[in-house]
Parts: sequence; C-alpha cells; structure tokens
Amino acid sequence: MTASNKRNKPSAKLRKARIRHLLMTAGPNRITRGWFYRRHHAEGVVVRDEEIVVPNWPKAFDGIRIGHASDMHVGDMMKPDRAIEIVSQLRDEQPDMVCHTGDLVDLYWPGVEPVAEAFASIDAPLGNFFVRGNHDELDSGDEVERIVAATGTTVLHDDVALVRRGSDTLRVGGVAWARTPSSCRSRIDAALGDESVDLLLSHNPKAFDHAAEKGVALTLSGHTHGGQIARRNRPNANMALLHGYRRNAGVYEIGNSRLFVTVGAGSWFPVRWNVPAEIAILTIRSGATVS
Ligand SMILES: [Fe+2]
Repeated sequence: MTASNKRNKPSAKLRKARIRHLLMTAGPNRITRGWFYRRHHAEGVVVRDEEIVVPNWPKAFDGIRIGHASDMHVGDMMKPDRAIEIVSQLRDEQPDMVCHTGDLVDLYWPGVEPVAEAFASIDAPLGNFFVRGNHDELDSGDEVERIVAATGTTVLHDDVALVRRGSDTLRVGGVAWARTPSSCRSRIDAALGDESVDLLLSHNPKAFDHAAEKGVALTLSGHTHGGQIARRNRPNANMALLHGYRRNAGVYEIGNSRLFVTVGAGSWFPVRWNVPAEIAILTIRSGATVS
C-alpha cells in the first residue's frame, strides 16, 4: 500500500483549498496551455539581504546570518526539483542558521521528502529549524512534521530549543500554525511558559503582538506572501491588507522587539506583481535597548 492510499478522507479545508487551486491556478494554467506557470517560473527567486538591528539580541550572537525561507508550497506550481534548486541558492549563501517558517507544502505532503532533505543538508553550524504553516495542515501537518524531523531538522511545535556557541546560549522558540491573535497567544504561552526567547518562529505574523509582550527579541514569519500583488515601490500596500495582515512584508517593531515577514519563495496562485519571490539572508545585529 502506498503512503497516499493510507491517508484519511480529505478535510473540509483541503476540499476548499483544492477548489480554489483549480479555479485560480491549475484551471487558468490549463486554459493557457502552461503559459501561466512558465511565465511565473521564469521570474525566478531573489536573495534578499537584510540587516536587522535587534535590541536585547545576545552579544555572543551578534552578526549571525540567518537563512530564512518560507512558503515553498511544494506542489504542482513548485515541483520538488525547482524547490531543491531554490534551497541550493540558500545553501550557496552559507548561513549560520536555517529557519523555515512553514507552508513547505501546498496541498499534499507526499513527494516533499527530497525538499525536506535538501533543507537539512545545508550545513548551518547553529542548526536548521522548521515550524508548520496552514497549508502544511491541509492534508496532514503531523506527516509534514514527521518528514521534516526525520531529516534531522529541529521541528518546533510549541517548543523551545537551546542553541549553544561555546558557553553562550541562544533561545529559539517556535509555534505551529495559529490563525488568530488569540490562538497565537495560546501557542506562544504553551511554548514559552513564563520565560521568553531570543528568536521566535511563527508562520503567522499575527503572533508578533504577544511575542513583543513576552519580550521576544526577534520574530520571523511568513504566510502573507506580501499579498503577491503590491503597488510599485510600496511593498506594504498589497493584497494581504484585504485579509487583515498589516504587517505583511519586511521589518516591523514594537518597543525593543522586531519582526521580519518574508514574502516567501512559492505562491498559491501564479502571479507576483511587484512582490518577487524571495529567500532572505538576515544579518542580526545586537542593538541598544530602549527603556
Ligand atoms: Fe503560504
């Protein structure tokens, strides 16, 4: 029996996502005889370099370079071969740490294994981390996490990992997909308890308000895709605003806390207008604390 034969009946959310995919993506692509996907893929993926000054970032980890990938959406618009090429772009940057903030898969998990292995094969001295996104849960979030964990990548499901460098420690937390600010709050509290972390991974940037309340120095998120369609030279004026995501692309701050939202490497419909697909290389600097 194949793995796919063992899968359960599709959930209502997966059925809805399949219909949306057919109407907005696969259908138009078929009608245009593949032109839609070809044109979309020809745009490539950019490497975005960003320096982020983070108050309260541990001095011992000043200057580390985090390879931040998100929203690969491996599926019929992002075949595993293409995803592995994008992971190679990230590998070439030789990051100190790799963080993938979810939506590794688009609809279904079978076939994603080689992409998870490619991520794990990036030899990042401070480790490779993953949290799951909403698309990872459409078929089976548990299977996606199982596959990623089997490669040796650390899956943070409402959990905290300690990254050691000599006698110094960086505390890295991660939460599984949560849709609303209050569900983000519950997951963060479950992961952190009464403590805080230096770095938090959350697919949903709506986690940032509570992360800042908890004193988290830096939060990394994805999910918005930067709306995929934005006004020219105004990356934050994009379609994600229609879904209530005002922190939807780039760096944001609340007090001493910082958030970076990547617009992601994949897509859920084959158009990106003024929002190129990206992988991010984040250089993190320890900044002065504002009281
Ligand atoms: Fe996504």
